[in-house]
Amino acid sequence: MLRSTITTASSLRYWMAFALKASPAASDSSRWVQHHERNPDMRGLLVAASIVVALATGGAAMAASDLGAQREADMKAIGSSLKTGFDMVQGKTDFDAAKAKAAMEKIAAKATEFPTLFPAGSEKVDSKASPDIWTNKADFEAHAAKLATDATAAAAAAGNGLDAFKPALVAVAANCKACHQTYRLSD
Ligand code: HEC
Repeated sequence: MLRSTITTASSLRYWMAFALKASPAASDSSRWVQHHERNPDMRGLLVAASIVVALATGGAAMAASDLGAQREADMKAIGSSLKTGFDMVQGKTDFDAAKAKAAMEKIAAKATEFPTLFPAGSEKVDSKASPDIWTNKADFEAHAAKLATDATAAAAAAGNGLDAFKPALVAVAANCKACHQTYRLSD
């Protein structure tokens, strides 16, 4: 399901429209999407936004253990922190440098913790973590480390204003799909 929602610009538009359907600012937002999907730098951000929407609405199976619950909590915190930044870049909320910085710092902290939640023997904890995590542990950890590095850079960029924050947030957002397409099983 996830894979098919992120393949084309038109499906991105669909997901954004779906997410924003109930919002009075929906038409503004879809204009923003139409404008920015032609801009390659912004494409990663749109993809990430659609991932947040798709995953957030994708159902809420109970975690099979504390480890599973913690993995989920980390990813949800990463998702909602990304959305905090995304809302500012989209103009849905005012840019607030301290808030943007805190959101990016939270992503960095959770991205650092996340790969520690996959010890040997925990393969069966839940169904969304690919078995490839345990066979390619170093690569999985490198993906998480890169997210932490990019989020730390975005936290610093937030102090230099919205124009500096935007491209840094796009770089953060590119990490979601890069890891999910290999290590998160699709629905
Ligand atoms: C290092 C790899 C990696 C990176 C980087 C990554 N994720 Fe994830 N994400 C996963 C894995 C693995 C799962 C499945 C976890 C599970 O089910 O145990 C997941 C699941 C999720 C979920 C679903 C949580 C739930 O409710 O079960 C959300 C939301 C999410 N990721 C958002 C993001 C966002 C947003 C980003 C980018 C800012 C991101 N992720 C970056 C690996 C990653």
